Amino acid sequence: LDFQAAKQHVEWKSVTRLCHTKQLLTVNGQYPGPTIALHEGDNVEIKVTNSISTNTTLHWHGIKQLRTGWADGPAYITQCPIRSGHTYTYKFQVTDQRGTLWWHSHIFWQRASVNGALIIYPRMPYPFKPKLHAELPPMVFGEWWNGDVDAVEEQMMLSGGGPNVSDAYTINGLPGPLYACSAKHTFVTSVSRGKTYLLRIVNAALNNEMFFAVANHTLTVIEVDAAYTKPFKTSAIMIAPGQTTSVLLTADQVPDDSTGGMFAMSLTPYVTAPIFPFDNSTATQMTSSQQQRSFTLRPNPKLHNLPDMLDTEFAMKFSTNLRSLASSKYPCNVPQTFDRRVFATIGLQLQDCPPNRTCTGYNGKRFFASMNNQSFIRPTTAVLQAYYHDLNKPGYTTDFAEKPPAEFDFSGVDPFTENMNTEFGSKIISVPHGTNLEFVFQNTNFLHMENHPIHLHGHNFFVLGHGFGNFDADKHPAQYNLVDPVERNTVAVPSGGWAAIRFKADNPGAWFIHCHLEEHTTWGLATAFIVQNGPLPSQSVLPPPHDLPSC
Ligand code: C2O
Repeated sequence: LDFQAAKQHVEWKSVTRLCHTKQLLTVNGQYPGPTIALHEGDNVEIKVTNSISTNTTLHWHGIKQLRTGWADGPAYITQCPIRSGHTYTYKFQVTDQRGTLWWHSHIFWQRASVNGALIIYPRMPYPFKPKLHAELPPMVFGEWWNGDVDAVEEQMMLSGGGPNVSDAYTINGLPGPLYACSAKHTFVTSVSRGKTYLLRIVNAALNNEMFFAVANHTLTVIEVDAAYTKPFKTSAIMIAPGQTTSVLLTADQVPDDSTGGMFAMSLTPYVTAPIFPFDNSTATQMTSSQQQRSFTLRPNPKLHNLPDMLDTEFAMKFSTNLRSLASSKYPCNVPQTFDRRVFATIGLQLQDCPPNRTCTGYNGKRFFASMNNQSFIRPTTAVLQAYYHDLNKPGYTTDFAEKPPAEFDFSGVDPFTENMNTEFGSKIISVPHGTNLEFVFQNTNFLHMENHPIHLHGHNFFVLGHGFGNFDADKHPAQYNLVDPVERNTVAVPSGGWAAIRFKADNPGAWFIHCHLEEHTTWGLATAFIVQNGPLPSQSVLPPPHDLPSC
C-alpha cells in the first residue's frame, strides 16, 4: 500500500454536499478514504507522505501493534507528527485479530474526513452460519460540515462551549435524501432475495453515537472491534465513534412495490447529553430536527426499526447482549483476577472564562474534561520516545495516583458543583509488563451525564460489567462476567454510569486512552499508560524506525 499524503494522493480536494462546495482533506482523492484490506498475520507497510501545509499522523484504530507502538499514530503519544513535506512508513503485523477495524488521522480534527475502513480477513473460515453469499461494501458513518472543521475546532477551544454540530450525518460520505439538496448523494447497495450478506460498519463520526437499522430486516451481530461475538439478532445496532461492528443481513423480506423494491437503511444519533441552556444559540442545541437526520435508499422514508434518539434503554440492552464467542477455536482469555484496579472518573467540568473572552460553556464559563480528575495535556515530545530513550521523562510523569472521589451525588441540581477537584497535567500511569489491569470508568456529571466511548490503544480489553449510577466496589465485581465478556477496543460507558474493563497489559509501549468523542478528547478527557518492557527481549518495544518523525 502506498498511502501518499502527497499532492497526487492526499490533498485538499473540492467536494460538494448539500449544495455547499468546500475544500476537504482527502486521502488518495477519496472521501471517506480507501478501504485497506488485510489478512490475519500480514506484515503491513503503509507509506505516508505529508504534502499538506500542516502536520498529520495516521492511526490504525484497533490494530494491537504488538511491540510496534511506533506505528500506532496518536500525535505526541507514540510519535511526533509527520511534518509538511516529510514521509513516514508505518510498519506493523496483524496479530490474532480478524474482522472490521478502521484507520484515521490522529491529530487535531483531521479525522473528520481522513478516515476509512480496515478489513482483516480471517485465516480460518467464519465461525457462523448461514453461508455468506457476499460482502457488501463497508459502511463508514460520518459527519459533514458545510463549514471548515478546523474553524469549528478553533471556535470550540476559544469559546469553551460545545462545537457547532455538523450539517449532516453521512454513510460513506453521503448524506442521503432526507437532507435538502442531497438526493443524488445517497449510498445505495444491492442484494439478492434470500441471500445472506456480511455488512461491515464503522462509526467515524466526530461527536455522535449512532443507531442504525435496515427497514423490515433483522441484523445478526457477529463481530465487534475485530473480535467475534456470539451471534445475536437485533432490530438495530448502537455504535459509538471508534467502534466497528459486523452484522449478517439476510435479504429475506419482500419489498413493497411502492418503495420501488428498495429498503431504507437509516441512522440517527443516539443522544445522551440532555438539553440545557447554552449561552450561545449557535452552540449545540438538541432539537427534534436532529432526529430527522437519517438516511434511506429513497425519499419519503419510513424509518423502520430505529430506536428513538434518546433510547438509552435500547443502547444498554444492546451493549449487554454483546458476548465473546468464547469457543474452543476462539477462546476468551479474560484475566480471572487483577493485579491493579484503576478507578477513573470521566466527565466534564467548568472553569472560569479567561479575561476578555466570551465563553459559551455554561453560565458564562468554559468546559473542559478530565479522566481521573486530570485534564490531559499532550506533552511536546512523544511519550513513547521519551520512555524508550529514557529521556528523563520530558513532559510527563508517571506518578498518576488514583483519586477516586468518595461518591457522586446523582441527585444534585447544579451538575458542575460535582467533581470540580481536577487539574491540568500530563501524569500517566506505568505498569510492569504482564500486569492484569482493570479500569473502572465512572461517569461523574449529573445534568450533563453522557455516554462516553472510551478507547484504549495497543490492547483489546474485556468488558466485565457496566451499569448506571455509582460503581460499588463491594457489590459489582461479584457480578462481573468472567466467562464470555465481549472483547473490544472502545467501550461505551453508560450515561451517568460506569463500565469495568480488564486486560493483560502485555504490549510494551506507551498507549493513549481517551474518549472517542472528539470534543471531549480536545477538552482533555484522555490519559496514557506505559506498559514497561518485560524481562525477556521478546517483551520489549522494538527499536524505532529510522524515519520516525522528530519533534
Ligand atoms: Cu480511533 Cu485514539 O483513536
